[in-house]
Amino acid sequence: MSDAVALAHPNFALSKYWGKRAGPGNFPAVPSLSVTLAGFATRTSVRFDESYSGDDVVLDGQEAAGRPRERVVALLDRVRRAAGDERRARVVSTNDLPAASGLASSASGFAALAVAAVRAAGLDWDAARVSDLARRSSASAARSVFGGFVELEAGPLDVTEDVLLAARPIAPGEHLPLCVLVAITSERAKAVGSTEGMRRTMDRSPFAGAWLEQAPKLHAQLREALLSRDFIRVGELTEASTLAMHASAIAAGVIYWNGATLAAIDAVRALRDGGLAAYLTIDAGPHVKVLVRPADADPVESALRAAPGVLRVVRGHAGEGARIIREEGAP
Ligand code: DP6
Repeated sequence: MSDAVALAHPNFALSKYWGKRAGPGNFPAVPSLSVTLAGFATRTSVRFDESYSGDDVVLDGQEAAGRPRERVVALLDRVRRAAGDERRARVVSTNDLPAASGLASSASGFAALAVAAVRAAGLDWDAARVSDLARRSSASAARSVFGGFVELEAGPLDVTEDVLLAARPIAPGEHLPLCVLVAITSERAKAVGSTEGMRRTMDRSPFAGAWLEQAPKLHAQLREALLSRDFIRVGELTEASTLAMHASAIAAGVIYWNGATLAAIDAVRALRDGGLAAYLTIDAGPHVKVLVRPADADPVESALRAAPGVLRVVRGHAGEGARIIREEGAP
């Protein structure tokens, strides 16, 4: 028997990944830049045991089945192949996020799973190799392996399964102090997952080409603004990346927003008109994440709470990368 427990935080992208390279390996078609978000976490334990007859996956107290289970088993299979280990595993994963907040992300989930599975299998891999493993399951998870501000390049044009593509940290969280206010606008699980949303956008959106052309430019500008600690420019470009991504998706009928999403967008714009530096970002769901300087968090939080349809507001800040929190044999 061998086991390990890992913890990982979600991340949210300032410049968005949306769209994959054709071919195997889950390579992103555009580069992305994110910040890892403390305040929310996934904890995952992986135990390999010769006595197990099959893989057992428990996610937030529920036995997983279907696609969620398959995605976990696919990662375990990669680890087993690399380690020459045939033992089956038991995986138990919990999110400490508010129930049904829509923040339980595949990024923290697969980052924690990758870190725990690699350690439990006894593989001596560096963080880049672990990040590459996580990316194959969910590209945003590659970024949660690292803390602070993290970049993931686009995959090569001619992808083959054996190409390694890992995220890399570009600056620690303290480099540009910020607070993230997450306006929760729905308790329901999203109808279209990000993998499917991207596929539909690339297949059907008349603006898919425009997005693929624009995203690397926004990314390069954002990276530069971040490195020069220009909070306003980072905020403006983050919002631009979100709106361009969603415009391409919406044109394919992939609409993640609800009425409260629009109300929160309105609130952020009104705050800006009133002189507050607040910028929004939205992922593949209806919640609105607002970037502010830490000193501005209170008034922005109150304004978001007052937006019609916003259920609650949760705070986050830059955090560390995925890590082992319990070693084999420890209590
Ligand atoms: C909008 O990483 O969830 O959050 O690789 O198919 O699992 P898969 O997609 P995923 O997509 C994230 C999309 C996004 C933008 C981002 O995080 O960069």
